[in-house]
Amino acid sequence: MNKARFSRLGFILAAAGSAVGLGNIWKFPYMTGENGGGAFVLIYLFTITFIGLSLFIAEVLLGKASRNDAVSTFEELAPKNGHIWKYAGFMIFTGLLIFSFYTIVIGWILKYIYVSATSLPLNAKEAGAAFGGMVTTETFTQFAFFNLAFFIIMFILSKGIKQGIEKINLILMPLLIGILLALLLYATTLNGFSQALDFLFVPDWSKVTSTTIIKAVGHAFFTLSVGMGTIMTYAASLNKDANIVRASASVAILDTVIALVAGIVIFSFVFNAGAEPSAGPGLVFISLPTIFSSFGILGNIFSVSFFVALAFAGITSAVSIIEPGVLYMNTRFKISRIKSLVILGFITYGMGTMALLSNVKEYASYVTFGGKGFFDILDFASSSILMPLGGIIIAIFVGYVMQKERVYSLLKDHTNDSIFNLWYFSIKYITPIGVLAIMINELFFK
Ligand code: TRP
Repeated sequence: MNKARFSRLGFILAAAGSAVGLGNIWKFPYMTGENGGGAFVLIYLFTITFIGLSLFIAEVLLGKASRNDAVSTFEELAPKNGHIWKYAGFMIFTGLLIFSFYTIVIGWILKYIYVSATSLPLNAKEAGAAFGGMVTTETFTQFAFFNLAFFIIMFILSKGIKQGIEKINLILMPLLIGILLALLLYATTLNGFSQALDFLFVPDWSKVTSTTIIKAVGHAFFTLSVGMGTIMTYAASLNKDANIVRASASVAILDTVIALVAGIVIFSFVFNAGAEPSAGPGLVFISLPTIFSSFGILGNIFSVSFFVALAFAGITSAVSIIEPGVLYMNTRFKISRIKSLVILGFITYGMGTMALLSNVKEYASYVTFGGKGFFDILDFASSSILMPLGGIIIAIFVGYVMQKERVYSLLKDHTNDSIFNLWYFSIKYITPIGVLAIMINELFFK
């Protein structure tokens, strides 16, 4: 049983810190750009409400009910002969895979803070070459920034729930929101602003295909950090009188608003420069720095602010990815926080180094398995297999394995019956079917 407790705001900020990550500021805008804008946003709002938020509530409910690590949670809450359910706790290992490559991306962002402060690329070609060159040839630089990111995150984790995780979120989340709002304020003065609003909020249904919907489901899921025991683990430290539904809804709303604000800011600059909204994953590393460079010194300031915000978002997410493993080792094997971090640190540092080298031309062949580089393997295994699987298992556990009366009694003081029924329907039917659809699509049609 764990004893540290978040304050009420502390939990919301820490859970939002986990949810608001590279997914919101880097992935959401480029996905919206690639999938036709407003229609994608509307579908995403729908899927985040019915699939993302439903699973989020389920995880908070499980964590708060057991107050224990993810493995023990399934074990304790399963029916008497349901020992097999402890294996559902495998999802804490998903985090180790995600952490290994997420930290590399945070390293790139830290490097881009430096690039932003010194010299921004003048055109898209130069920017593309600089980004590609860093990833595929600059082993030493990448490794140095990966280490920087890795040790910052480990340092925060070593301080524990209250002094580490809660504190860093209390500081970084308001700063992140402040920076984004300041950029938003400036964006309103740009000519591209109204075009950005049209692009994000006026749906063009002709662009919608089944892939758009599947992508929206996948992202709703990824962006709320559900399916790997992270939210469950944080909820184990939730204070007793916190309202599960209200806290969950606050996090989902904050996550969505931040993604939308990031989208408005980025697309205002993109349209202002007459650039393409559908630039893909390179949107923030390639298009944006080029656009910023045309603003002179002001552009450097924008660029530094933007990448600092992105780094904050990434760091507060990264600390939450390892925490389920720490709580598990701590409660089941009485291993201290520091020792757990050293063990988990060794594993993720090793995998991270392999992932980093798999992008570098010179070494790629040593860390490529079955034609796929290790970086891509980690990304694929976690986002396409393990996270959705975790989500389906949570939905089945709460919707079918636990008794409805039990689930109802855990939630009845937190909401009214009609919302409960809607949520229960979603957890039983919409969520497992929706998530299964993404998994099948990712595995067989990509
Ligand atoms: N939600 C994070 C983001 O938007 C990414 C993420 C997915 C994550 N699963 C997670 C973060 C688990 C922490 C823990 O970038």
